[in-house]
Amino acid sequence: MKKITIIGTGVMGHGIGQLYAQHGCEVTLYDLNDEALNNARSMITDSLSAMISKEIISEEDMKETMAHLSCTTDLKKAVDGAEMVVEVVPEILSLKLDTYRAIEALVSEKTVIASNTSAIPLTELTQGALHPERFIITHYFAPAQIIPLVEIIQMDGVTDPKLLKEVEVFLKMCGKSPIILKKEVPGFIANRMQMALMREAFWLYENGIASAEDIDTVIKDSLGFRYVFLGPLEGQDIAGIGTTYNVGLKLFPVLDDTKVPHAFLKEMMDNNTVGIRSNKGFYEYTEESGKEKIRKRNDNFLEVFKLRNKQLGK
Ligand SMILES: NC(=O)c1ccc[n+]([C@@H]2O[C@H](COP(=O)([O-])OP(=O)(O)OC[C@H]3O[C@@H](n4cnc5c(N)ncnc54)[C@H](O)[C@@H]3O)[C@@H](O)[C@H]2O)c1
Repeated sequence: MKKITIIGTGVMGHGIGQLYAQHGCEVTLYDLNDEALNNARSMITDSLSAMISKEIISEEDMKETMAHLSCTTDLKKAVDGAEMVVEVVPEILSLKLDTYRAIEALVSEKTVIASNTSAIPLTELTQGALHPERFIITHYFAPAQIIPLVEIIQMDGVTDPKLLKEVEVFLKMCGKSPIILKKEVPGFIANRMQMALMREAFWLYENGIASAEDIDTVIKDSLGFRYVFLGPLEGQDIAGIGTTYNVGLKLFPVLDDTKVPHAFLKEMMDNNTVGIRSNKGFYEYTEESGKEKIRKRNDNFLEVFKLRNKQLGK
């Protein structure tokens, strides 16, 4: 996978493009207009600069990475000779289907088409595809250039098994930690677990059990602290299965099991209290403090990234 095209260079696409360029691929970024492409370039520059300041990469690495990146608003040029095309357009099925139709008309039969969809099953993404066997989902987490996990989703009996292996090996070469789902399931794995946790966090907040700050502290200073290096199931082996079984007997019946997102979230949306972008969510922000929060988040992620690489001997 030496020549890769990224279709859609927003929050996720620019990071995926950066990652592949950092690992020596020739990456073409494609978006609808120059403004989107300029934004992507500047996000990549900022991200690489932050990596230099943390001594994760050198100035020379940054130059090389930038030299591997090119931008275009011409789809034909963008996909010309691509071995893999990564679709990272908004989560709207019809938009994704139109995009695949346009791509398949331009690329060779061998070109891999990977989607970063958060939730749309491959069976829906490939309706109308000329070659469904070359489609795959590679689901990244933001920021894609930093967070190691990539969930790979295939279609049993349709996806070419050689392709599956090739994508897995390629992602490992890019320093990622890919996992292949044995069966397709809505939300894949990480978002299912994240949403189960969010449902309970929202319930605790809605019922006044603790403040937003304290709920966040509980996760950051307990589960989050552990989970970087110890998954929930291996953790059970250390704790002993019996303890969790007994706790489960007491707690499972009283955990939140609402089937729709909590009403207060809709109220927050109606009041434009949607987080940093409206200067108010669970917390209050100014323009500056909101930006600082995101900068600090990225900075902390890079520290964990370094620590993790050190542990893995990278
Ligand atoms: N944001 C996240 O945290 C996240 C995480 C995992 C997966 N995803 C998934 O990744 C995909 C992209 O999400 P995002 O957050 O990067 O969206 P985004 O809105 O930030 O970026 C989408 C980009 O696609 C471009 N675009 C729109 N229509 C296009 C077209 N027809 N051709 C080419 N480019 C087009 C837009 O100009 C924009 O730059 C979605 O499927 C989303 O569900 C997002």
